[in-house]
Amino acid sequence: MVQQGCKPPQLFHKMHQPKIKILAIPGSVNDGSTSHQVLKYIAATFNHQIDLEIYAGLGTLPHFNPVTDSKGAPAEVMQLRTRIAAADGVLFCTPEYVFSLPGSLKNAIEWMVSTTLFSGKPVAMIVAAASGQKAFESLDLIMTTIESVLPDTSKLLIQAAKGRVGQEGEISDEDLRKKSAVWYNPCCTP
Ligand SMILES: Cc1cc2nc3c(=O)[nH]c(=O)nc-3n(C[C@H](O)[C@H](O)[C@H](O)COP(=O)(O)O)c2cc1C
Repeated sequence: MVQQGCKPPQLFHKMHQPKIKILAIPGSVNDGSTSHQVLKYIAATFNHQIDLEIYAGLGTLPHFNPVTDSKGAPAEVMQLRTRIAAADGVLFCTPEYVFSLPGSLKNAIEWMVSTTLFSGKPVAMIVAAASGQKAFESLDLIMTTIESVLPDTSKLLIQAAKGRVGQEGEISDEDLRKKSAVWYNPCCTP
């Protein structure tokens, strides 16, 4: 699936770094979830090009509280902020729950809003759900509002995800795989 003769990456490119450092933030706290499977697949498939770390702390973040935030964010939040700052780009992969983003993911994003961490940060997003349209629109709107760099080519909606993502996280649906081939390889421009 890795394409030959790729141009330099449009999103996560840094001339001086051989490997692009990506922080992947799953929208599910369950590491056997479809979202985790997709992220693990991307990490393994492109490990010669990208250094992708999957954030595992979503379920341990305290509930967002603007008063606490203004007094000094908790250690778990500071750690996530540090990891986002250190990454060349951030990749979200999330399900949709009750027509929205999962609460855990929304909570994590709320802790970031008082910062400028996402301003100018290259972001890519995958929503893997039954329908996923609302979560897709919501994450797109949020990321655009907090000024991340999120071109259309870095947004992927995998509908009927359970049937289109294989056991190893690979996209098993051929049409969708073709459509997402460029996206799946961050070193290729469309
Ligand atoms: C509580 C709950 C609510 C859900 N609500 C929606 C929904 O509103 N829209 C949708 O497309 N899928 C919905 N789903 C289905 C999940 O998005 C879908 O099963 C997804 O593939 C699960 O992803 P995961 O394995 O990464 O958790 C819901 C699932 C659960 C458990």
